[in-house]
Amino acid sequence: ATIKDFQTTLLDWFDHEGRDLPWRHDHEPYHVWVSEIMLQQTQVQTVIPYYQRFMALFPTVADLAAAPESQLLKAWEGLGYYSRVRNMQRCAKQLLTDYDGQWPQTAAELTELIGIGPYTAGAIASIAFNEPVPAVDGNAYRVFSRLLKIDADIAKPQTRAVFERVISQIISQERPGDFNQAIMDLGSSYMTARQPDTAHSPVKRFNQAYLDGDELAYPVKTKKPR
Ligand code: ADE
Repeated sequence: ATIKDFQTTLLDWFDHEGRDLPWRHDHEPYHVWVSEIMLQQTQVQTVIPYYQRFMALFPTVADLAAAPESQLLKAWEGLGYYSRVRNMQRCAKQLLTDYDGQWPQTAAELTELIGIGPYTAGAIASIAFNEPVPAVDGNAYRVFSRLLKIDADIAKPQTRAVFERVISQIISQERPGDFNQAIMDLGSSYMTARQPDTAHSPVKRFNQAYLDGDELAYPVKTKKPR
């Protein structure tokens, strides 16, 4: 099984079975960013109506920067973790004052922005700007640890770099954003944490842990070292 074979299988599946989600209707960095921040601690089905209301209220970075805080918090009510939306407004202001309102286009530069960590930077850079960089979240840990039987402990901060290196070798250079989103869709459908349905997964023949019958051993995660 080759990398090309895996990419083609994954992207074909994504083209036919990928989810139709409101933030996938275009590749505007603002849309990608807002959706990714909302999705960090919240399920897709819950996020959808919040995302739609948010875009109606604050259609651009400038609208978000100018919004009264009370209106922002109201739009976020029910999502929790209010620091997310406060940081988003700080980031919107930072974009206007320090970047002339233009998004930087690489993951490395995006991590300079307030509230944007390595995952969100990878998601925006790949989906909005086609940079072939990984977006390593819980889905990516689960999917790639099983496919390749990677036993690095995902509770350890250094492990992110291990996965980033591996995924960088496998990601589609032509369609990195779709590749990353296909991994998210796999991770929330066939390749879930407790009850994976790998027998029906489009990539089961690439899933070494499944083939060996020890899928549930992955990802390896110890208690947080303290
Ligand atoms: N979870 C995190 N980011 C996502 C995205 N872009 N689409 C679906 N689920 C996600």
